Amino acid sequence: CGIVGYVGFRNATDVLLDGLRRLEYRGYDSAGVAVRTPSGLKVVKRSGKLSALESALKEERLEGPLGIGHTRWATHGAPTDPNAHPHTTEDGKIAVIHNGIIENYLELKEALLARGHRFRSETDSEVLAHLVEEKYRGDLFAALREALKEVRGAYAVVVAHEDHEEIVAARTVSPLVVGLGEGENFLASDVPALLPYTRKVIFLHDGDLARITREGVEITDLQGNPLKREAVEVDWSLEAAEKGGFPHYMLKEIYEQPWVLENTLGGRLREEEGDVDLGLALDPREVERVHMVACGTAAYAGLYGKYLLEALARVPVEWDVASEYRYRDPVVDGKTLAIAISQSGETIDTLEGIREAKGKGARTLGVVNAKGSSLTREVDEVLYIHAGPEIGVASTKAYLAMLAAMALLAVRFGRARGTLSREAAQGLLREMRKLPRLVEEVLEQRPLVAHIAEKYHQAQDFLFLGRHVQTPTAYEGALKLKEISYIHAEAYPAGEMKHGPIALIDEHLPVVVLATRGPLYEKTLSNIQEVRARGGKVIAIATQGDEEIAKLAQDVLYVPEVHPLLAPIVSVVPLQLLAYEVAVLLGRDVDQPRNLAKSVTVE
Ligand code: G6P
Repeated sequence: CGIVGYVGFRNATDVLLDGLRRLEYRGYDSAGVAVRTPSGLKVVKRSGKLSALESALKEERLEGPLGIGHTRWATHGAPTDPNAHPHTTEDGKIAVIHNGIIENYLELKEALLARGHRFRSETDSEVLAHLVEEKYRGDLFAALREALKEVRGAYAVVVAHEDHEEIVAARTVSPLVVGLGEGENFLASDVPALLPYTRKVIFLHDGDLARITREGVEITDLQGNPLKREAVEVDWSLEAAEKGGFPHYMLKEIYEQPWVLENTLGGRLREEEGDVDLGLALDPREVERVHMVACGTAAYAGLYGKYLLEALARVPVEWDVASEYRYRDPVVDGKTLAIAISQSGETIDTLEGIREAKGKGARTLGVVNAKGSSLTREVDEVLYIHAGPEIGVASTKAYLAMLAAMALLAVRFGRARGTLSREAAQGLLREMRKLPRLVEEVLEQRPLVAHIAEKYHQAQDFLFLGRHVQTPTAYEGALKLKEISYIHAEAYPAGEMKHGPIALIDEHLPVVVLATRGPLYEKTLSNIQEVRARGGKVIAIATQGDEEIAKLAQDVLYVPEVHPLLAPIVSVVPLQLLAYEVAVLLGRDVDQPRNLAKSVTVE
């Protein structure tokens, strides 16, 4: 899942461990390094967290100026020591690490076994080591190229050889970034691993192969034709990628949300004209329908986008999680705009979903956080959300930025299509301008949220309810809670509760209800009454000044008044804090919840 490579003058082990630690946020269940030492290429790898690898490396110190390191998130084969990367050939001369999936690995493995290779792991990745070994005739780069010609699938692969002072690598689908230094060069799956050493990076493209030495980098395609790739300076500060004084990245990121909203919205709002400037070439008048494609938290942002685009721009929107979209043979034509939303820009289901739409003739727009990510190169145009690096596995600030991006899009579409008047747009923009300050106000409620968490953290289940634009808020609130506290949480559109989940309600079930003021407020109050009548405990998220609700709900968390269509942007914040406080009370690993990965690059 996380990859780091180094060749230069420092002790590679230190650089690799440091880099892998900066990639821990991607989630993993084993880790390993291979270092070119004076007595040959040496590998140490362990299942579990990086600390297990570190202890092993204290006993067996690996010293040398070249190495590769990996954190693995199990797909083929359990998270055991042998299945951890790097994988080596039997003679130990070649070490390989790999992200992604080799689709034809069974076929390859059988052929390799028949030719006398012996395997030590159950991974698909190990075939790469043996294939490279077979192709090797003294030129490691050529050997990798030849090996990959037989491989079908997705990969970021990195290879080191005992006899070579170089690292060779290749990518399709899975990301790889080269870091450029002075007398040293780096390789990583993600930028944060490189930041302590260099800001000058090359994002490798799909199909690129790279050979990295102390002096430089050579990039070719699979045929060996040289390619020119531009180096870019990344502007992320290292501090931005570290915790900044908070006990967890997640909490830090929750608190960053006011300025994240500034980043997303700032510079794009044009109150005078009653419009926004997104710098997109796309003409919303040529769009007859929109397809929203995303996964997880990003998918809920897409659902919010559906409500907003339909309300403000009167364009029909279909919404799917990407893994469904790509396989349901969607009806798409040239008037369809497919919008893919992704923090990482690397989620494989989302990438494949957008490819499906593109293949059928749709125009495509990516709403993305990570610059230079794969998705940004797949789509016709990109709307960046500018949330900065998000490290906590459970997404928070990227969600708020995605919601804000959806609001921007809906205003632009509404204006261009003539369904949103200038005055109405101006009203919305004025409200959007206030959002950073309003979110700051919500953050001040943390002590109250902590108190509510204390009351309910022993519950076995939670139910979340919301209507219209607050339906995705309910989904996201439930997702946050289950992701980091492991408490079972379900979300429903409030009106649907009576068709099933009402059977669950008793005095043990806390029910979080999004009950902010808006056209459906009264309906939501009735739902609260239905819960109360059956002994359920209600935690209401309500608009400041609403005293009526305090008589109905056991607990109320107030959010500042804002345009009802924008209410989700302030209302999800107490739910993020609630999930956080509950998880901390239960002693959970908030930043790296079990079984989850920050960015899922396998299907
Ligand atoms: C994983 C993460 C989620 C995230 C989802 C989509 O499941 O754990 O937090 O929402 O992927 O990620 P993306 O990078 O595409 O937004």
